[in-house]
Amino acid sequence: MRDDCTYVIFGATGNLSRIKLIPSLYQLDAAGMLSDAMRIVATGRRDWDRERTISEVRNWVTEKLAGRFDEQVFERFAARVRYFRGDLTDTDTWPALSDYLSHKDLPQNVAYYMSIRPAEFSLVISNLGQTGLLKQDKGWRRVVIEKPFGYDLASAQALQQEITQYLDEEQIYRIDHYLGKGTVQNVLVFRFANTMLEPLWNRNYIEHIQITHSESLGVGSRAAYYDGSGAMRDMIQSHLLQLLTLVTMEPPASMEAEALRDEKVKVLKSLRPIEQDAVNEHAFRAQYEAGEIEGEPVVGYLQEDDVPSDSTTETYAAMKLYIDNWRWRGVPIYLRTGKRMAERQSLISICFRHPPQQLFRGTSAGELKQNWVLLGIQPCDCMRMEMTVKVPGVDMRTRQTSLDAMFRREDEHRTDAYVELLVDVIDGDRSLFLRYDEVEYAWRVVDPVIKAWSEQQGPLPGYAAGSWGPAECCNLFDKSEQHWRHSLNPDDDEA
Ligand code: BG6
Repeated sequence: MRDDCTYVIFGATGNLSRIKLIPSLYQLDAAGMLSDAMRIVATGRRDWDRERTISEVRNWVTEKLAGRFDEQVFERFAARVRYFRGDLTDTDTWPALSDYLSHKDLPQNVAYYMSIRPAEFSLVISNLGQTGLLKQDKGWRRVVIEKPFGYDLASAQALQQEITQYLDEEQIYRIDHYLGKGTVQNVLVFRFANTMLEPLWNRNYIEHIQITHSESLGVGSRAAYYDGSGAMRDMIQSHLLQLLTLVTMEPPASMEAEALRDEKVKVLKSLRPIEQDAVNEHAFRAQYEAGEIEGEPVVGYLQEDDVPSDSTTETYAAMKLYIDNWRWRGVPIYLRTGKRMAERQSLISICFRHPPQQLFRGTSAGELKQNWVLLGIQPCDCMRMEMTVKVPGVDMRTRQTSLDAMFRREDEHRTDAYVELLVDVIDGDRSLFLRYDEVEYAWRVVDPVIKAWSEQQGPLPGYAAGSWGPAECCNLFDKSEQHWRHSLNPDDDEA
């Protein structure tokens, strides 16, 4: 039996709530995964009454789940929704919220979702704490914190110190929505539920690893947040480093949250620190310029709404990292992410070493290509193994072929990451949330780069919107024959 609970969403009228949280809670209701007494308290500054709230919620759910909307389910869902109006900076808000939450209709297990500006996390948590709203005497109290947790190492440490005055680590659910993606969890299943590849998953067989997240979208309406963040903080410090840990970690002792998180932290702690004077050899950044996306002209980053015309915020970031442990020493791991790139793609590409003997060198087969294992995260959730085969005929010629497997059958829906994460909070399962030391060590990895970049003057290298980034991003590679894998199709690659 799932616990009854009240989900209090701070910032409920904002983007995240509209696009992800409310539609995900609706989907949980539709799947019969919420207890009857579960309630949602949407909080915001707007002067909405319950009727207005329900009508907005209806719009959000229908916009997001057009073909899957069911009137009967919506009626049940709408009956769960309440609206609490309050300004987070007004001291009267907190006693009023406390009164509101003591209503007998609302379950006493409470999850507070911080769908607000990061600068407000500490303010809200300290007010909840001082008003007694985090005390667990009548039920559990959990706090879900969206990324970014801090702005750099020092601010993450400060935030942690502030919130742990009121919360135990067990009450804190730091979200990285990538961990809620089924395809990301599949990385663990793929590695640890199959024996075939695990013996090869190390420095003896793997030459290098690439993790790419590219987007064709630009900054959109998020410049207020993004311009102060940039690609390194927005994607690499969080999602890409999490993917890196899952691909490279040792098998955990169990699937318990702490066992899993222990192994992830070990990887982050083993990442070789980047020295200040070596930042340019390990990291690269750039900014998109005007170009074309799907045949349509789009503006450059500096011309986007709310972006200062002299901004040096990177919209593209790439990094080379090494894990100094027995399994991975000497294997470069390349991470890259960018907005306004040629395609939307999240892909983990594992490049295997050349065979030890070039047996076919003297024949027309020539030098053989390397094997790749590609794990597609999105849009295609699939696994591809590229191998070399002989071309039929009398000549000894070879070509690449691939073994392809879809992770999802055609009749299976992809579930939004938030659906899984929201229910995990109710169940008290923290395995897909970040423990503080993971966040701290991830900041330690990127901090030297962020610091060095903040001291460099002048405009950033540019790349045309709709391209795969500037040519200089290949300078990170250890070997001249290495190249970025842009997609599952080797023909799209950059030589
Ligand atoms: C968010 C970033 O965390 O992840 C965004 O802030 C980015 O800038 C997004 O676009 C990517 O997530 P997804 O699920 O669309 O791959």
